[in-house]
Amino acid sequence: VDRYAFHGTHQAGIVTPAQDRLHFAAFDVTATSRAELLLLLKAWTAAAAAMTQGRPVGGGVPLPYDAPPGDTGEAAGLPPGRLTLTFGFGPSLFRDADGKDRFGIADRQPAALRRLPHFPADALQEQRSDGDLCVQACADDPQVAVHAIRNLSRIAFGSAALRWSQLGFGRTSSTSTSQATPRNLFGFKDGTANLKAEEPKAVDEHVWVGQGDDDGAAWLADGSFLVARRINMMIETWDRTSLREQETLVGRDRHVGAPLSGGTEFTEPDLSLKGNDGQPLVAMSSHVRLAHPTQNNGVRMLRRGYNFTDGNDDLGRLDAGLFFIAYVRDPATQYIPMQTRLSRDDGLMEYLRHTGSGLFAVPPGVRKGGFLGDTLLT
Ligand code: HEM
Repeated sequence: VDRYAFHGTHQAGIVTPAQDRLHFAAFDVTATSRAELLLLLKAWTAAAAAMTQGRPVGGGVPLPYDAPPGDTGEAAGLPPGRLTLTFGFGPSLFRDADGKDRFGIADRQPAALRRLPHFPADALQEQRSDGDLCVQACADDPQVAVHAIRNLSRIAFGSAALRWSQLGFGRTSSTSTSQATPRNLFGFKDGTANLKAEEPKAVDEHVWVGQGDDDGAAWLADGSFLVARRINMMIETWDRTSLREQETLVGRDRHVGAPLSGGTEFTEPDLSLKGNDGQPLVAMSSHVRLAHPTQNNGVRMLRRGYNFTDGNDDLGRLDAGLFFIAYVRDPATQYIPMQTRLSRDDGLMEYLRHTGSGLFAVPPGVRKGGFLGDTLLT
């Protein structure tokens, strides 16, 4: 396939096989009335429905010569690139900093949609965090992904402003068994034990919000929660670390991706197995042990992150890392407890710095004739 349907029960871009490129954007809504917000979401719906199918914004209908064109034009002639656009609503859309209801939707704010708590060692930058709305644009061609964010941003002029955005190259997870496992910038296979589209029961259990999950937020059924974390990697220090240390910290072998308890890439780690020295083969502070469902009340999440490099600092160190994205049914029982443990005990943390953060409620898919967020706003 070269394109994915825009309409459906769930938004595309979640269990959709992860594309190669990302442009993620968060917006601040500057509109002050509910009517203006509705107009923006309707205009975004029409534009997203067109762009994901490889069509220009505005359907290519010519506008007067003295008006700006309906589409910015740089994707003309390019294939759709399997573009998906996935939209989310941040906690600040519901209530402003003083707790005031901004658009008459405060009583529908999901209980779990709160600013993420401060985790140990967080070094968050405000200019890379939060936002009222988010858009995850994924495509196989970076020009297609950037074109989409640029046009959504242009359409939002006067009602929402770009707050921060992140480019990603190289997916760091697979979301389908049809995909080979890619590698993150530490050189390790990433996504081996991820939730995959081919496990619909597990996806229902861990990703999609259920009808009865939250009485006050029934509008979110068939949607999900998106966690975004910009995680810088201390690449230069990592590259001076022995292979033994690297593998011990991760809990897997670097070449094949097999757990250090033995087997091949997809063998389940045996966390009880000990070596001749009496120590567990998958170390107590290794990432894979601490993130394993058996250590987290059976909790799993659908990871959908990307590698990033945003130039370098004046000491010649790359500003690089992993833009972590995960979809969960309930951040309060899935992401927050796991991140709290990882931030405190994970040996990898010595090489990581979390510099950006956001939590968004991802509404269900748009039905034909409907618009983004219609279950919330009508
Ligand atoms: C697994 C790397 C951040 C949750 C893995 C694996 C690697 C890895 C190499 C093993 C392969 C796999 O199963 O995918 C990293 C790196 C990170 C990072 C380099 C930061 C830059 C996180 C964060 C979370 C997380 C922030 C969640 C809070 C998980 C989970 C697994 C996993 C749930 C699967 C564990 C299992 O079921 O065996 N990660 N990870 N990771 N990671 Fe991470």
